[in-house]
Amino acid sequence: MSKKCVVVGVSGGVAVYKALDVISTLRKQDIDIHVIMTESATEFVTPLSFQSLSQNMVVTDMFAEPKAWEIQHISLAKRADLMLIVPATANIIGKVANGIADDMLSTTIMATKAPVVFAPAMNTNMYENVIVQENITKLKRLGYNFIEPASGRLACGDVGKGKLADTKLISDYVISMLNDQKDLVGKKVLVTAGPTVSDIDPVRFISNRSSGKMGFAIAEEARDRGADVVLVAGPSDIPDPFGMKVVRVRTNEQMMNAVLEDFDSSDIVIKSAAVADYKPKEYHDKKIKKTEGDLSIDFVRDNDILKTLGERKKDQILIGFAAESNDLIENADGKLKRKNLDYIVANDISKSDTGFASDDNLVTIISSKGEQFALDKMNKKDVARNLFNIIKKR
Ligand code: CTP
Repeated sequence: MSKKCVVVGVSGGVAVYKALDVISTLRKQDIDIHVIMTESATEFVTPLSFQSLSQNMVVTDMFAEPKAWEIQHISLAKRADLMLIVPATANIIGKVANGIADDMLSTTIMATKAPVVFAPAMNTNMYENVIVQENITKLKRLGYNFIEPASGRLACGDVGKGKLADTKLISDYVISMLNDQKDLVGKKVLVTAGPTVSDIDPVRFISNRSSGKMGFAIAEEARDRGADVVLVAGPSDIPDPFGMKVVRVRTNEQMMNAVLEDFDSSDIVIKSAAVADYKPKEYHDKKIKKTEGDLSIDFVRDNDILKTLGERKKDQILIGFAAESNDLIENADGKLKRKNLDYIVANDISKSDTGFASDDNLVTIISSKGEQFALDKMNKKDVARNLFNIIKKR
């Protein structure tokens, strides 16, 4: 992505401090950030905090000469690839919906041709007020974007909708909109992620250390490139990403059923989940009590989901993962052939700073035509990007 410019409008509310987190994440993506604060926003957090994080002068109305903002609002409005209003109060939403431009932020929103995204945060009763809702509906109809607030306990003590959306969701949304590589439009991509669980009794199970990070990163990359995405995820702490169908499952069988539901209509299927190969021969519906002696549990083979897909596939591009601690290429290539795959992502789990649960991965991608693409150690989002670039060549 070439260097993009996001103008962040901060309007006054208790959630102002959360905008710092969003800006910090966007800066790490090498996005140029310019902040405009309303006067009331500066009552909550000082402009200096925003200046330090954005590494650019913060524009406020407090000391601005009218002449200065004449020029500034136009230059920022022109420079923006996207404007993000976080948090967006009822006041700024109302102003924009009704064409009022009486300060630096509202004039810049009015003057920009870039997409504008509002992330509202306010008291539940205010959010539900018909005037606010009508303003939001009108702005949506006019092409403005909204990131729905979350429900929960608000700063005023009320419980309901109006909390600022999760900050990661907001930064993901912005990064996704800035991505102009839309080469998966019209394609359906099915991704599995995370571990599966085999239950032993009502309180015990066996599972594995998969965090789901790799699969979620792949699903998000596919979404950002315009694909229609279905993510089937085993238990993972990662919240649902926006803009895709997410099916949460627990067991091998549930994952198998969910995957089969969408397999035939998919173009690309990527199985990054760490699926359990065995399940207890017998499920105890009452908790197993301890005895003096040892305990052994018999396990039986469970479905090999990927192998089933390999047998069933027609035109789908089918991609598997191989987590190996030794003989990486040889083992992975064996799986590619046995499971009738088009590609396999061979993952070296012998190193502690890559693979399971870490943010980075060290992989070699092998194709059914015998090509090998050894990637450097990189974060999982970049692995996902490289994977789609390689598939695209086919
Ligand atoms: N997989 C699957 N169903 C299983 C086991 C694995 O769909 N029961 C998929 C995984 O999602 C992954 C690929 O198969 O894409 C490779 O998984 P792995 O467990 O490494 O391979 P196995 O063939 O099970 O070999 P082994 O455990 O002996 O290494």
